[in-house]
Amino acid sequence: MTSGKMDEIMGLIEAKDELGQITHSFTLLIQRLQEECAHTQANEAWLSTTLRSIGDAVIVTDDQGIIMLMNDVAQLLTGWKEEDARGKVLSEVFRIVFDATRHPVESPVTKVMREDTVVGLADHTLLISKSGAECPIDDSAAPIRERTGKISGVVLVFRDVTERKRAEDEQQHLRAQLLQNDKMAGVGQLAAGVAHEINNPIGFVRSNLNTLQEYVSDLFALIKSYERLEAATTAKLEGQSGQPEVVLVEIANIKQKIGYDALAADLDPLLTESKDGIERVREIVKNLKEFSRVDQSTHKHADINHCVKSTLHMVWNELKYKAEINEDYGAIPEILCSPGELNQVFMNLLVNAGQAIADKGSIGIRTFVKDKTIFVEISDTGCGILPQNVARIFEPFYTTKDVGKGTGLGLSISYGIEQKHKGRLEVESTVDHGTTFRVCLPIEESTVTYAACPAVESEQT
Ligand SMILES: Nc1ncnc2c1ncn2[C@@H]1O[C@H](COP(=O)(O)OP(=O)(O)O)[C@@H](O)[C@H]1O
Ligand SMILES: [Mg+2]
Repeated sequence: MTSGKMDEIMGLIEAKDELGQITHSFTLLIQRLQEECAHTQANEAWLSTTLRSIGDAVIVTDDQGIIMLMNDVAQLLTGWKEEDARGKVLSEVFRIVFDATRHPVESPVTKVMREDTVVGLADHTLLISKSGAECPIDDSAAPIRERTGKISGVVLVFRDVTERKRAEDEQQHLRAQLLQNDKMAGVGQLAAGVAHEINNPIGFVRSNLNTLQEYVSDLFALIKSYERLEAATTAKLEGQSGQPEVVLVEIANIKQKIGYDALAADLDPLLTESKDGIERVREIVKNLKEFSRVDQSTHKHADINHCVKSTLHMVWNELKYKAEINEDYGAIPEILCSPGELNQVFMNLLVNAGQAIADKGSIGIRTFVKDKTIFVEISDTGCGILPQNVARIFEPFYTTKDVGKGTGLGLSISYGIEQKHKGRLEVESTVDHGTTFRVCLPIEESTVTYAACPAVESEQT
């Protein structure tokens, strides 16, 4: 009924009796109701369109977790039609489990009612659809409150994160691959040095063995003459013809010929030197093994000074002809970290420092604690970095080095490793004067054990 028509009727009912007035009031009421009804319908239509246009899945329940409404995306992900789902308890339609254990996840409605606030789902939640299909989801649930503050229901918003998870996995895989590439490049660079390092002791041990072989054959010749002396003496004692005196002269001659005194004096040093050489090779191999350990991402308590020292030991060959190394290790606590990865950072920084020095220079290593942070500074007197390039050095594949010398991955990977440790990697550089890289590692009190500062020993030989 239009309001014009209503006026017409009102005109007709001019009777000013009580009934007339009541009718008039009713008519006004109906008019108001009609207007409100139209308004509510428009509101509802608008709400419903909004709900359907949301890219995320939405399910609305009452305070008992009974489904009242779900949008198209929610129907798609759960595999339930809205008309079938309405009136059912949420857990029947919205089936969620932890992906690793497959244990059911607590209903978000229960959680919201208990915690009286917006809640998010735990990571690694899988939604199992009506047909049994599974997809990883992210979600949050919020209380719907009446004007009085009482919770009258819960609105649940969730989305399929299969794509995001895949991208994350790929990124993780790529990162692991980059790490491995960098490590391989580093190991490649070191291999030549290590080969040289091993070659040296192997060389003198081999030469010592040759000498020892000659000595042994000389000594056997001597033993043989003593056997002849034994035979001659026995024969003489038994009254047969034997001339031990002649053999004695022979023995003296042999002793002189083989340089017996010098030989006897030489034996012990030769053996000791050979043992040292083998020990040296063993040490190098042990370091190499420690350095290329596969458990590089396992976290454990470690002494950063020890990490730096053992890494320095590894790259010593790269540096020794170019740089004088000044070491200054402060008293620092052990921290929970991934020592294998940090070794990689130190190796990158030390090798970079060595490569930055064209001819001769020095490299400084300093560790200290300040503001609950462990600092490892590695500075060099090398070529420095142009100010406009400083911002680029942490980019993957940014390198100013020749092919085969640089991959451009070292610093970007080191940066990533630092971030993983909630730390920072800082740089200060002056062209033609040198560069300082500073590794900053936060000390978290709960994970710290204070170790006595180990004596600073020079491990290089
Ligand atoms: N100590 C340093 N002194 C001067 N330049 C450096 C130093 N460390 C790194 N750089 C610059 O940063 C670049 C990137 O380093 P990095 O990521 O380790 O890759 P790469 O050493 O393989 O080139 C180097 O090519 C070099 O130009
Ligand atoms: Mg490098």
